Amino acid sequence: MASDLERSIVARRSSIGQLTTLLLSSIVLLSCGVAIRFSEAASTRQRPGDVNDVGSYFAIEMEDGALRSPELIKKYGYPVESHEATGADGYIISLTRIPPRNDRHQIPILLVHGLLASSGDYLIIGPNNSLAYLLADQDYDVWLADMRGNRYSQRHTRLNSSSPEYWDFTWHEMGYYDLPAVIDYILQLTGARQLDYIGHSQGTTVFFVMASSRPEYNEKIAHMYALSPAVCLKRVRSPPVRWLLQHVFALKDLFDAFGVQQFLPHSNQQYEISRILCPVSDPNNLCMQIVSMTVGPNPKMTDMMAMQILVGHDPAGASVKQMLHFAQLQHTGQFRQFDYGRRNNTERYSHWKPPAYNLSAVSAPITIFYAFNDWLIDPRDVLRFSRMLPVQPTMHLVEDENFNHLDFTMAKNARTMVYEHILSDLERRERTNSTK
Ligand SMILES: *[C@@H]1O[C@H](CO)[C@@H](O)[C@H](O)[C@H]1NC(C)=O
Ligand SMILES: *[C@@H]1O[C@H](CO)[C@@H](O)[C@H](O)[C@H]1NC(C)=O
Ligand SMILES: *[C@@H]1O[C@H](CO)[C@@H](O)[C@H](O)[C@H]1NC(C)=O
Ligand SMILES: *[C@@H]1O[C@H](CO)[C@@H](O)[C@H](O)[C@H]1NC(C)=O
Repeated sequence: MASDLERSIVARRSSIGQLTTLLLSSIVLLSCGVAIRFSEAASTRQRPGDVNDVGSYFAIEMEDGALRSPELIKKYGYPVESHEATGADGYIISLTRIPPRNDRHQIPILLVHGLLASSGDYLIIGPNNSLAYLLADQDYDVWLADMRGNRYSQRHTRLNSSSPEYWDFTWHEMGYYDLPAVIDYILQLTGARQLDYIGHSQGTTVFFVMASSRPEYNEKIAHMYALSPAVCLKRVRSPPVRWLLQHVFALKDLFDAFGVQQFLPHSNQQYEISRILCPVSDPNNLCMQIVSMTVGPNPKMTDMMAMQILVGHDPAGASVKQMLHFAQLQHTGQFRQFDYGRRNNTERYSHWKPPAYNLSAVSAPITIFYAFNDWLIDPRDVLRFSRMLPVQPTMHLVEDENFNHLDFTMAKNARTMVYEHILSDLERRERTNSTK
């Protein structure tokens, strides 16, 4: 099966080369901040999208892009609570809960977002479609985490998030400190013994950091659903991401020179900008092109309004070090701690090489969902990763062969292709456990 997959992927890849140039110029345009200049004009100018909504496949509205996660949940008629958990190194993690209407289920569910994203990812395609609402409709106790450094989680017991010390973290600390704190908090508050974990992309990376370096936490996980797990990144297909990976060291020097520690921080203006640069009426707008080139194109299943709303929520911020750690993961193919260079590694880790995460220690039961047209997490990398786990996970290749990396959170068919499978697996496990 792997080799069939390989052949068809190679065949497809040949057609994407030329698009790279177009994309790179778009990225340069955005990242240079040229667009920021439009923002003032944006607040006064009439926005065509407001007057004449183009309509959406989903039950969502333009203003959703400007609402914060708890506001979205409230708007759509669900109860919402805000909580926070503090990790051992002082970072305060925001949690958003949709409490259950009854106690039909024993096990709370924790949802963890991907890189540069936020809890909004499980909400933006609205009720009847986004995973958080589907779970809440089935009376599950739903918890959305926002990892350190994103727009919702920038507080610390001691450090100010405008200080460089605050940004000295990668996804290692999220897995090692934040997740255990979040899990302990939820279990203590609910009195449950275990929770189910659903992670997308980096939301799985941090899980595997935790499950391998704090193995006692495996027992607190009833089941882990990994959507597009980001551990093996060798075969990233996205041209702009490949370009960034190639130039990562030059970019690092650039960031260092300007004292920049945050990568694509969230700005309230980004939604305004996207409404000008990326009109919903144009299915080939700049946002659509950039996103497609990054995650894999799937225009048929992409809702233009959801795409615009997405840009109100993401990028939601990350640390530069976190991006570098992903680049190291991609370059070396080794799932291990941050590489500070030989000398500093020796000081920090007492070895010239950074310690590898011990995946043999991962004992929580796992189901992996992965997709053929995922340009960030290639299906062959997912298969390779699955073989590194001590117990073979349940593998679920999404049936739609155009399904891409972001489709896990916003495709028109995310519900039927992925979420309904999770819902029925949750039910099946509950039935099996109650007859035990
Ligand atoms: C969700 O779907 C149900 C039926 O499937 C429908 O009755 C309800 O109006 C939908 N809700 C929204 C917000 O679209
Ligand atoms: C953090 O630092 C900024 C700028 O130095 C300052 O304006 C802000 O009040 C500080 N925040 C806290 C919570 O101390
Ligand atoms: C290594 O340590 C030195 C001295 O502490 C520091 O100046 C340098 O930035 C470190 N290098 C890295 C890659 O962290
Ligand atoms: C990795 O984890 C396994 C299972 O817990 C353990 O037996 C093994 O000793 C660990 N290896 C290292 C290098 O820590």
